Amino acid sequence: MKVLVVGKGGREHALCWKLRQSPRVQAVYCAPGNAGTALEAINIEIEAHEIDRLVRFARQEGIALTVVGPEEPLALGIVDAFEKEGLRIVGPTKAAAELEASKVFAKEFMRQFDIPTAEFRVFDDPDLAKKYIETRDHPVVVKADGLAGGKGVIVCSTKEEALAAVDKIMVEQAFGLAGRRIVIERRLEGQELSVFALVSGRTIVMLEPVQDHKPAFDEDRGPNTGGMGAFSPTPIETPELMREIQRSILVPAVHGMRYSRRPFRGILYAGLMVTPQGPRVLEFNVRLGDPETQPLMMRLQTDLCALLEAVAYDKLEAFADTGLQWDPRPAVCVVLASEGYPGPYQKGRTIFGLERAAQLPDVKVFHSGTRFSDGRIVTDGGRVLAVTALGENLLEAKRRAYEAVKCIEFAGMFYRRDIADRAIRRLRLQQPPRELGPQTP
Ligand code: AMP
Ligand code: GLY
Repeated sequence: MKVLVVGKGGREHALCWKLRQSPRVQAVYCAPGNAGTALEAINIEIEAHEIDRLVRFARQEGIALTVVGPEEPLALGIVDAFEKEGLRIVGPTKAAAELEASKVFAKEFMRQFDIPTAEFRVFDDPDLAKKYIETRDHPVVVKADGLAGGKGVIVCSTKEEALAAVDKIMVEQAFGLAGRRIVIERRLEGQELSVFALVSGRTIVMLEPVQDHKPAFDEDRGPNTGGMGAFSPTPIETPELMREIQRSILVPAVHGMRYSRRPFRGILYAGLMVTPQGPRVLEFNVRLGDPETQPLMMRLQTDLCALLEAVAYDKLEAFADTGLQWDPRPAVCVVLASEGYPGPYQKGRTIFGLERAAQLPDVKVFHSGTRFSDGRIVTDGGRVLAVTALGENLLEAKRRAYEAVKCIEFAGMFYRRDIADRAIRRLRLQQPPRELGPQTP
């Protein structure tokens, strides 16, 4: 069968790469894709938000299954448009995508269905928002209601920072209309975890959890980004924690969406803070994460095409019974970004060393923001590459990923040097050293 992946980031490259390995797949198309997806798929010059053109392409080409990477087309109703034409697609309808597209909707939904999350208030008036902040005796997080590419969230340590965040979002309108309303919520402490579940009807199949690194710089300093690195599995997941997440978060979310007449089909992503009081939802997304998908696809051994077809055809029970197969080896992904990201950055810088990195064993360099220019591969985004490696243990996976990073170079390249470090330190405390591998990364 022919499959179509919509999007142009590292997540979509990883999906194309994995789908191509499926014996069921005859051809993979990617719209619009990047220089990396061109290695695995046929790139189509249609942007992710050009829904009518995508529908026409899928119909003409006889695409049997479409998978949507980013949130924007989902929020615009790509699934409704495909389904109206009888085309199979993996993702939620526009009404269900509200869970990600509006933080106000998501928080009120969680309140209604008793899903654990940080206490919060909603404001559409900056003066009232500031008065509220003055009365708080704990740090807060200020969030633009609408979509802002993962950047519309400002985590504050002081009242002054919170007041400035209100000005930035509501008065200066740094995120445009997305900041017309804001959520102000209690800042939670703990470890973050990204949990993904395939959802179809009442069936929920969890993927392996992943930890993401959102802040731009080492030791979690700097502004929040879409994600600077990720790894899976994580030392904080335990069978009890995963059961608790399923029971107190995923099941009520799926039931709540059905009850609200917005039944959810697709991939539900719960961004969690694991606190001493238990897991709390920071946000819901309605898609796979980027860069979380990259380590997940390195580890997934189940046929991805069969799995996604099961979601689209309401046949997921079969996988709920058998479970999914995973490579037990950990995977670590390091994002190489353009200087300036998540603010303004330059594009069009030549990338060197990709071939050398590709020769390393158990390493895959996924492309996030790249394109071809005069026979060269050049930078074309804030996040440029997602260098991902498997290893016998987390330390070894990290060592391999950074070895591949060392092969690669472009002007203005920056990356975090501490991806997975906290988890490695935690494992050191839990396990005898030989299980961690060599002690020097
Ligand atoms: P969100 O898009 O809502 O997940 O927020 C992006 C990032 O901001 C999260 O991944 C966290 O790192 C951080 N964040 C969001 N909400 C909170 C909170 N209530 N407490 C602490 N950190 C938060
Ligand atoms: N890595 C976070 C996201 O995809 O939203």
